[in-house]
Amino acid sequence: MLSKKASCDSHGQDSSYFLGWQEYEKNPYDPVQNPNGIIQMGLAENQLSFDLVESWLATNPDALELKRNGGSVFRELALFQDYHGFPAFKNELVEFMAEMRGNRVKFDPNNLVLTAGSTSANETLMFCLAEPGEAFLLPTPYYPGFDRDLKWRTGVEIVPIQCTSENGFKITAPALEEAYQRAQEFNLKVKGVLVTNPSNPLGTTMTTLELNHLIDFAVAKEIHIISDEIYSGTVFNSPSFVSIVEAVTERNLEDTELWNRVHIVYSLSKDLGLPGFRVGMIYSNNQTVVSAATKMSSFGLVSSQTQYMLSQMLKDKKFTANYLKENQKRLRKRRQMFVCGLKGAGIRCLKSNAGLFCWVDMRHLLKSNTFEAEKELWMKVVCEFGLNISPGSSCHCSEPGWFRMCFANMSEDTLDVAMQRVKALVEPTMVHQSVVSKSTWLQTKWVFQLASYDREPDR
Ligand SMILES: Cc1ncc(COP(=O)(O)O)c(C=O)c1O
Repeated sequence: MLSKKASCDSHGQDSSYFLGWQEYEKNPYDPVQNPNGIIQMGLAENQLSFDLVESWLATNPDALELKRNGGSVFRELALFQDYHGFPAFKNELVEFMAEMRGNRVKFDPNNLVLTAGSTSANETLMFCLAEPGEAFLLPTPYYPGFDRDLKWRTGVEIVPIQCTSENGFKITAPALEEAYQRAQEFNLKVKGVLVTNPSNPLGTTMTTLELNHLIDFAVAKEIHIISDEIYSGTVFNSPSFVSIVEAVTERNLEDTELWNRVHIVYSLSKDLGLPGFRVGMIYSNNQTVVSAATKMSSFGLVSSQTQYMLSQMLKDKKFTANYLKENQKRLRKRRQMFVCGLKGAGIRCLKSNAGLFCWVDMRHLLKSNTFEAEKELWMKVVCEFGLNISPGSSCHCSEPGWFRMCFANMSEDTLDVAMQRVKALVEPTMVHQSVVSKSTWLQTKWVFQLASYDREPDR
């Protein structure tokens, strides 16, 4: 009756990443209404700087009231349906992107394609760059949503580039080559490498050495580079952020073929904390890609009132400069609080300088060095201690015992409660009230569904 796509379960929603969210939805923490509920630490949301956006809106009511110089632009916006997007909005976006890169690079608004978030941008690039059954290489650990965004509707395959804790999960030349060879063994044609810079889930920026390995590799294999730079505005500590475009320009490769094979993905979901507005984009120097992606963007446009409102906001350079600075300051402070709390419980994390999360090392809490033990610990953390965190296996990490924990989607008070729960986890003598009774837990079907594909090479 239905298509294969509709009836098969390759969407990836049975990954522990999404299953943890479902469990949270059933029993969300609230300090007053539900103090024993689950605290959401599996959602990379930025709620630290809402007040800055809200106060800008309060002093610039025309933007929300859809007015220009006091007159209504309602009709103009209601009728707008051009899939190229508002030129004024695209101008503001490229300036905002340049500002975040210290104006060391310039972006041309004609090379920008608007999409409904980075989710849509990444999928659209897959449709533009690869046939079903062709592959992209991704360094592990990677954002669990990529299994859905890159593979599900496109039929494109992901082959992991295995990075390890030995060097802080950095990308190396042998790891790139090894992934390429593995793809060949599976008869998969490699079309490119996709990186997140800064990395989700590591919270680190790519080093110049890593960027150069990536560039050398893409030149040698004649493949594409996609750099998902959705967290570029969250870099709160040195080393500073170097965009792929900057790295390629540094090496004077603008006149080579590689220039046309480098594509950036960006969105306002993280840096401005506006995932609900669905504002994403592709930036590419390849005119064929820009043209094809623009046509495809018909399936996921950014609404005209959102474009209007945000172009007014981004036009205010004083606001954007202050926002970026203040937001980074708040993220730095929040991360510090979080890392100190974990340290008090004897838990360390990877040294990070960006993002809305930390990559937390709980290997010492595993009963054995296996993914079964990681799953057991994860279930305990979610159900007994009420913290929804993402296990490394959902990010395709090759080593058991790492977890991604988000820290910017809650109040300081909630973070305090979360830290007390982490302490209780490591100190079994502490009295702790389980948030889910054992019997309920055993009845919950999903706990036994940690997808085994999380750990297998993707095919
Ligand atoms: C690396 C990365 N890319 C893309 C996305 C999707 O973002 P958007 O809300 O813009 O679709 C996320 C969201 O967590 C992400 O972390």
